Amino acid sequence: MLGPLAGVGLVLFVWVYFSPSFTDVGYRPEQPVPFSHKLHAGEMGLDCRYCHNTVERAAHAAIPPAATCMNCHSQVKTDSPKLAPVRRSYNTGEPVPWVRVHQLPDFAYFAHSPHVAAGVGCASCHGRIDTMTVVAMDQPLSMGWCLDCHRNPEPHLRPLDQVTNMSWGDSETEDTMIDALRKLAGTSAPAETNGEQQTYNYREDPERTRLPEPPVACSGCHR
Ligand code: HEC
Ligand code: HEC
Ligand code: HEC
Ligand code: HEC
Ligand code: HEC
Repeated sequence: MLGPLAGVGLVLFVWVYFSPSFTDVGYRPEQPVPFSHKLHAGEMGLDCRYCHNTVERAAHAAIPPAATCMNCHSQVKTDSPKLAPVRRSYNTGEPVPWVRVHQLPDFAYFAHSPHVAAGVGCASCHGRIDTMTVVAMDQPLSMGWCLDCHRNPEPHLRPLDQVTNMSWGDSETEDTMIDALRKLAGTSAPAETNGEQQTYNYREDPERTRLPEPPVACSGCHR
């Protein structure tokens, strides 16, 4: 009885796993306000959780309300036309119509909090947001991508207090080497390692009370 059904599942699985059409890396929609992570999170050094303050306890990472922006923009750049939609939202209560960049289909279950609690850095999934003037998708968010990490999470784990640190693990020598190679190749983009090549033995980290066990069974993500 199960035979033919399992066969269909396998065909679908193989097709999806190897299908390149599920990757939208580089997707970079125009936003209603030219908000720059490079300026706010990079140069000004605001922690991700100052704005995305639900990411540690909820499935979704909240997009901040206009009131968070107005903490500063009631004193800084108060007349900027670029900030008009933020001021309007603050006065009317209507949210700023930000355009979603990352969006999984409904049939796939994902929650931020267990990932953050397990010590997976924002940079591992979103790239170097602190260098982006406009947010772009850095990773495919495909099933194969989820499973690649779930099957071998070790290289993607970091100390629990380094989750929002964008440059954790970027070794200076390695960066300098990569930069030198890029210069030779004629490109000037900064080294992008997503901070993952540093060795860190999570099994010996006393801050961890249990070892992470990412699900690989279908029912883990399709509930
Ligand atoms: C000052 C507030 C602020 C800070 C600090 C901030 N963000 Fe954001 N973030 C926003 C706003 C507003 C948006 C929606 C507009 C956009 O996409 O640029 C956003 C969007 C995003 C998105 C895309 C959401 C989507 O639609 O899929 C990601 C990912 C993200 N931020 C990650 C981060 C990370 C990682 C950090 C820390 C390095 C960070 N943010 C720091 C305000 C902030
Ligand atoms: C394991 C991978 C992973 C990690 C780690 C991760 N994210 Fe995400 N993020 C995603 C995925 C997948 C989505 C799309 C979720 C959806 O469509 O339901 C997303 C969506 C978002 C969004 C859009 C709102 C939402 O929740 O759908 C923001 C903002 C965001 N992430 C910020 C962050 C910040 C800040 C961190 C670090 C504290 C972080 N993310 C860590 C994978 C990750
Ligand atoms: C901690 C303070 C702080 C917070 C919070 C903050 N900003 Fe800013 N923002 C600044 C500073 C400082 C500048 C740079 C002003 C300058 O160039 O002199 C700036 C510049 C900007 C600019 C460029 C304005 C122009 O005319 O060039 C935009 C757009 C902007 N912020 C949007 C936002 C949005 C949207 C939020 C909320 C999600 C936000 N900011 C939250 C401090 C902040
Ligand atoms: C970079 C590594 C990494 C990536 C990429 C990743 N995960 Fe995870 N995931 C983990 C780790 C580590 C855990 C284990 C958490 C634990 O056991 O404490 C986990 C746990 C989970 C869980 C179980 C916890 C819960 O929320 O019930 C689900 C479901 C899940 N991930 C879904 C996804 C999906 C869907 C994607 C792709 C969109 C994804 N993950 C991408 C590392 C990752
Ligand atoms: C770690 C999380 C995870 C696990 C485990 C997982 N999937 Fe998925 N699956 C996803 C995500 C995320 C997507 C959506 C990918 C996209 O939008 O590109 C997906 C998409 C799919 C689709 C594509 C549906 C469509 O619209 O084309 C099928 C079929 C599927 N999964 C079947 C399975 C089967 C069968 C298993 C068990 C062998 C499984 N998945 C295990 C995360 C997972």
